[in-house]
Amino acid sequence: MPVEWKEENCIEQNMIAKQVYVGMSADIIHPGHLNIIHEAAKLGHVTVGVLTDAAIASYKRLPYLSYDQRALIVSNLKGVERVVPQTTLDYRPNLRELKPDYVVHGDDWKTGVQQKTRQDIIDCMAEWGGQVIDIPYTQGISSSMLNERLKEIGTTPEIRMKRLKRLINAKKIVRVLESHSGLTGLIIENTYVKKNGMKLEFDGMWASSLTDSTSKGKPDIEAVDLTTRLHDLNDALEVTTKPVIFDGDTGGKLEHFPFMVRTLERLGISAVIIEDKVGLKQNSLFGTDAVQMQDSIEGFCAKIHVGKQAQITDDFMIIARVESLIAGKPVEDALERAAAYVAAGADGIMIHSRNKDGEDIKEFCLQFREKDSHTPIVVVPTTFNHITEDEFAEWGVNIVIYANHLLRSAYPAMVHCAESILEHGRCKEASEEYCMPIKEILTLIPGTKQ
Ligand code: SPV
Ligand code: MG
Repeated sequence: MPVEWKEENCIEQNMIAKQVYVGMSADIIHPGHLNIIHEAAKLGHVTVGVLTDAAIASYKRLPYLSYDQRALIVSNLKGVERVVPQTTLDYRPNLRELKPDYVVHGDDWKTGVQQKTRQDIIDCMAEWGGQVIDIPYTQGISSSMLNERLKEIGTTPEIRMKRLKRLINAKKIVRVLESHSGLTGLIIENTYVKKNGMKLEFDGMWASSLTDSTSKGKPDIEAVDLTTRLHDLNDALEVTTKPVIFDGDTGGKLEHFPFMVRTLERLGISAVIIEDKVGLKQNSLFGTDAVQMQDSIEGFCAKIHVGKQAQITDDFMIIARVESLIAGKPVEDALERAAAYVAAGADGIMIHSRNKDGEDIKEFCLQFREKDSHTPIVVVPTTFNHITEDEFAEWGVNIVIYANHLLRSAYPAMVHCAESILEHGRCKEASEEYCMPIKEILTLIPGTKQ
């Protein structure tokens, strides 16, 4: 008997053969996602390509949940038959492998930056006669909106701490900016630019000893004690969710360093960087104009070792900062020390220099990478500031720290403002030239009532 045509029958028959692909980040699952999967399941067997951390971090901030957590959630959603990793933002590698009959997506991608992605997928699917199906977008709810709300809720020390390692694994290069107050923390948390369809933002904060000291009117010689620095860092922790790398200077005495590690770890700081210097610490950017006494390799390895012994989690990182180039020694010395520090347990190496051309840093990175392909490398391009993040990534660098730029840009602006008031005997010119409007400062801080 011929089967009467009914929509349900078509769906039933499709279910036997048709393959449907849905790509999603699935960080915060909401009814819009469920609707897409529901509609996709009407067309056939649903495979969800869950974007990996690296795929997501290539165009926006890292998701809250890890890939494994997101894949687990999606695989348990009704209508999903299979989950595969989608390792690039580009769907096409997965599509060419799976050759689905349909790709299903919300119709919001018909406009805006995603238009090109959609067209690329339509062209790709045409290679084997597949089709793109656009499902009406679920109004009133979106991941970006939920993300904003999540930011308001904040984070926990554990989630914040784990984030740095996840970023290192997911991103070509992790971008960190100096923070010395709640306000600078907010700038790092919220500032972004859109470029080529990507949302560019900072991944984390650097608690710099130079800017922590300078903002207190004190020299950068470990004179501002740990308790005071942490008290101030708490202002930034209270209003942000991004990870923090703490400038631990020399780490203090060997016997004291474990206490620093425990305290930072408990606060949810992701990493401490300690430098292999002894005696009165002077800022490295003085170079050989100041006495820069390096610790012995054995002495510094012992410090790294006691720090590693003290930490409780596997997530906290102790990064060893090699000061050989600052002290006027050759790259070979830096390489020898770096290898020894890694062998002693260091989770990363910061290589510093005040040479302007960056050649010594490049030489170090390339040679270090020949022998060690995975230990993260950190650079602080205060003097070699023409090198781009892409170039650093090519040299094998994992983290770039812009170590003092918010303070260095704020200070001259404040001095100009002060001079203008003195010059004119009034504040009209200063207000107009150097100040933000009053209305803006009153509403700058999130949560301010209007
Ligand atoms: C800091 O920011 O305090 C640093 C980096 O340690 S540097 O100032 O370049 O030494
Ligand atoms: Mg410092």
